[in-house]
This record gives sequence, C-alpha cells and structure tokens, in this order.
Amino acid sequence: MMLHVPGVLTADQVRACRASLDAAAWVDGNLTSGPQAAMAKRNLQLPQDDPAAIDVGRAIVEALNANPLFVSAALPRTILPPLFNRYGGGHGFGDHIDNAIRRNPATGGMIRTDLSATLFLSEPEDYDGGELTVDDTYGSHIVKLPAGDLILYPASSIHRVTAITRGERVASFFWIQSLVRDDARRRLLFDMDLAVQEVSRAMGPEAAPVVSLTGAYHNLLRNWAEV
Ligand code: NI
Repeated sequence: MMLHVPGVLTADQVRACRASLDAAAWVDGNLTSGPQAAMAKRNLQLPQDDPAAIDVGRAIVEALNANPLFVSAALPRTILPPLFNRYGGGHGFGDHIDNAIRRNPATGGMIRTDLSATLFLSEPEDYDGGELTVDDTYGSHIVKLPAGDLILYPASSIHRVTAITRGERVASFFWIQSLVRDDARRRLLFDMDLAVQEVSRAMGPEAAPVVSLTGAYHNLLRNWAEV
C-alpha cells in the first residue's frame, strides 16, 4: 500500500529544518550506500552522524509518532533515524530496491525494512524532474509532494528518482520496521481502523457495533503483531 500523509511538518517546521540542513556539510551519496546502489545513485547526502541530521531527524520522528494517520498505516515498531538527500542538476537515482535489513545506528541492532518513507523538504515548484516513481502491482506511481508531506510505500517496491533538470530537491528518507510485517494485513488493519473511527463518529464510541469492531481490530492486531 502507498499512502500520502499530508502535513507531517508545518511550514514553520520545514523552514527551521531546511535552515539547519542547508548549513550542514553534504557529501557524495555513494559514500553511504553499497556498491550495487552506487551504480545508479547520483546525489548528495548528509552523513548519519552529522549533528543537523541527528537534530532534524529527531524532530521528524517526534512528528511521526504524533501523527495518527502515519501510526495507523505504518504500525511502527522501529523508525530508523531519518537520513537526508539533496538532488541538484543532473542528479537522480535509477531503479532499485532498498536493502531488506539495516543496522540501527542508535542501538546497533538490526531492523527489517518493511516500509520506506520519503518526507519532502522542497516545494514542488522549486525544481523540475526529481519525481519519486514507485512501481507496484497497479503500475507506476509518480510522487512529488508539497514540503512537509510524506509518502509511505512498501520497501519491496522497485523505485527511482528521475533526473533533476532545474532547481534542487531536498528530502528526508528512512525505513520503518512495522509491528505487522505483511503489507496486505497492515492494509486491512488500516482500513478497519478508519472504519472504526467513521462508525464511532456516526454512532458514538460506546455503541455496540463500535465496541465489536474495535474488539475485532485489536484481536487481529494481537494475532499479527510481532513485538
Ligand atoms: Ni530507495
């Protein structure tokens, strides 16, 4: 499932993040990836231990944990510390699939990358090209969102960032290990959660159908969650 989560960061938060990121020391993106990805990747990234990356990353994770749509869709178990990339003229990233397992630099432990996320930190009118394109069973999806918005997609999808022909695109990208590994199960739980909220608004939280549906949601989650 792909999901657009609008307004993860406010306009003021985006401005503050950009001010601190723009002043940081960016390096060739290939220093941060394995040789297979290096063939297709042309961009700049911030080193994982850059103070701006750590600070802004922390603010992003805080905003995500407080975002009900994100939490309901991702059911996050672990959010890896956000990374940052910058695409300028001629930069792009060809077809690839993200690594299945990554080390969490915060804990040293391994995490499974169930979901990939891109949080846009440039406005779409500030650059041409630079579209994130994600392939799934329904076809190719072209994603170019307002600054502060996030796209969530299965990490198993083939995806790319098309070449930039004007301006500059700054984004944060990161991975999530979900409590629920299977994309179809996660999708079903998300649909149920939305239905619970809708029925609850219509009937009140204590109505019998709302209580039954909420119970069914939690029993499924209890069966499927890996904690
Ligand atoms: Ni990728």
